[in-house]
Amino acid sequence: MARITVIGSSSMDLVVTSSKRPGAGETVLGDSFKTVPGGKGANQAVAAARLGADVTMVGCVGDDHLGEIILNNFKENGIHTDYVEPVTGMESGTAHIVLAEGDNSIVVVKAANDCITPAYVDRASAAIRDADIVMIQQEIPEETVVHVSQLCQEYGVPLMLNPAPARPVPPSVIERAAYITPNEHEAAILFQGMPLGEVLRRYPNKLIVTEGKAGVRYFDGEQEVVVPGYAVKAVDTTGAGDTFNGALATALAEGQSLQDSLRFANRAAALSVTKFGAQGGMPQRSDVEGSL
Ligand code: RIB
Ligand code: NA
Repeated sequence: MARITVIGSSSMDLVVTSSKRPGAGETVLGDSFKTVPGGKGANQAVAAARLGADVTMVGCVGDDHLGEIILNNFKENGIHTDYVEPVTGMESGTAHIVLAEGDNSIVVVKAANDCITPAYVDRASAAIRDADIVMIQQEIPEETVVHVSQLCQEYGVPLMLNPAPARPVPPSVIERAAYITPNEHEAAILFQGMPLGEVLRRYPNKLIVTEGKAGVRYFDGEQEVVVPGYAVKAVDTTGAGDTFNGALATALAEGQSLQDSLRFANRAAALSVTKFGAQGGMPQRSDVEGSL
């Protein structure tokens, strides 16, 4: 069984749907409101667990009602929560999502996720050392991302960095990571607008740029490879990237080739967008292996 440790955010997604996205200073009437578990770290953990990985989450929640829901959701998905702690006096992370005009816009309030410090992560060092792959994103402090990259290097454990949401990443982290999975927008920020073809060549079999339903692009050491995505009727694209990352890590940790792993991850991501919610629609193993 593939052992995956995720160090990252967990949040509640507060989602409204509306036919119109409000502009600055504007009020519109929406159609529905729902709360569902989310957060990039948690989503990637759930995606990997549903696909059969043995997943340990390292994170923080608030000592509020939302924190209890988030913790229960981990347990329901069979994720180890020994290193997910409620922080006294803190609120849980929340993401405020508007689904309108066929797309989402999101404001994330990190709250308890900012308590995932280097010292906090050190308490989970055994879970990092024993993992086949460690996954990390950017809804936690930057110094923690740097620290995790150092620990992974020290233990010889491959690190998958999903540099989302977009922010610059220290060069040392880019060097240490085994896989980096930005979308085109995040790649432009990471590599300061350097032409994509050039950066792909610089990081063969490591830099994987996602291009939504068009698929993913990487350089295999000889040529640029595109692994195409799947056309599906999208209901909610929130969490598609997280599903992709969780699935990719699972397949790689099982020892599948990069190209096969990317095909698997594209299928999983396509299935995830057919249902509402970041984690709604995240497939089980049999769903991905069935026809799309
Ligand atoms: O990647 C999707 C996630 O980003 C959502 O679940 C929301 O929590 C935001 O942080
Ligand atoms: Na979904």
